[in-house]
Amino acid sequence: MIGVFDSGHGGLTVLRQLTARLPQQQFVYLGDHAHAPYGRRAPEDIYGLTLAAVERLFLQGCRLVLLACNTASAVALRRMQQDWLPQNAPNHRVLGCFVPMVEALTAVSWRDGLPVPGRRAEDGLVAVFATQRTVASGAYPLEVSLRAPRLRVVSQACRNLVAAIEGQEPAARLQEMVSGYVAELMAAAGGEAPTAAVLGCTHYPLVADCFAAALPATTRLLDQPRIVAESLADYLDRHGRFLGAPSERGGVRFLTSGDPDQASAFASRFFGAPVAFEGIADHEPPGPR
Ligand code: DGL
Repeated sequence: MIGVFDSGHGGLTVLRQLTARLPQQQFVYLGDHAHAPYGRRAPEDIYGLTLAAVERLFLQGCRLVLLACNTASAVALRRMQQDWLPQNAPNHRVLGCFVPMVEALTAVSWRDGLPVPGRRAEDGLVAVFATQRTVASGAYPLEVSLRAPRLRVVSQACRNLVAAIEGQEPAARLQEMVSGYVAELMAAAGGEAPTAAVLGCTHYPLVADCFAAALPATTRLLDQPRIVAESLADYLDRHGRFLGAPSERGGVRFLTSGDPDQASAFASRFFGAPVAFEGIADHEPPGPR
């Protein structure tokens, strides 16, 4: 089983593509609805909550966990991979959904720093729209600059967009908000049109049309769920030990730290099919280790 983690609903947009791309694979999805949103939390808090969730998914029998949350990936992934996993779960792996996006932008492999054959890096200016915490972490520009120093990244925190998407604000209000964020980014970029844009929050695919309408027609929107699904399929090809047994049939268990009925009620908008969450006992951030 592969664990998929998000602060709440957003990771379901990624899971939807994962189940389409890897239909034989079994997944366990964990949404930390009790502590969402993460986008405005302090980094230490996000690290503790993400670690607690990953431990839970390991206890469920997952040896591979994907952080399908850009905020958790940006804040916690490197630290977890370097400081925690080797001592505490050396046979397990944690991946993050922002890694394939950095690879897609730079055409450089995260694993070995070598160019990915047959891929071309973006050039010029790249726009990243994300939560406040992801933007404040600086993870996207940092990881891009390490691999493609000439590629420029301009980031925009979309402060209240997750809440507005979850609150089912009317389409016109969502468009107005997104247009405002795009205008702020364009002003920060001195009016230069980005060649590509990353919707660096797993909630944002629900308003991809709003971004497409507000961005210049020449700006390409990168499809994070699809890129992440391709990348996981490639990872599983190279690491067969994380694949389920060939006899296994695909399927998903949906777990939430929040109220299962409430979480299930909104989830189909993100997953594209009915979802029935099971509740798990709430967990507190474990604090520094
Ligand atoms: N879905 C999360 C992400 O990809 C953010 C949602 C939240 O703020 O909890 O960044």
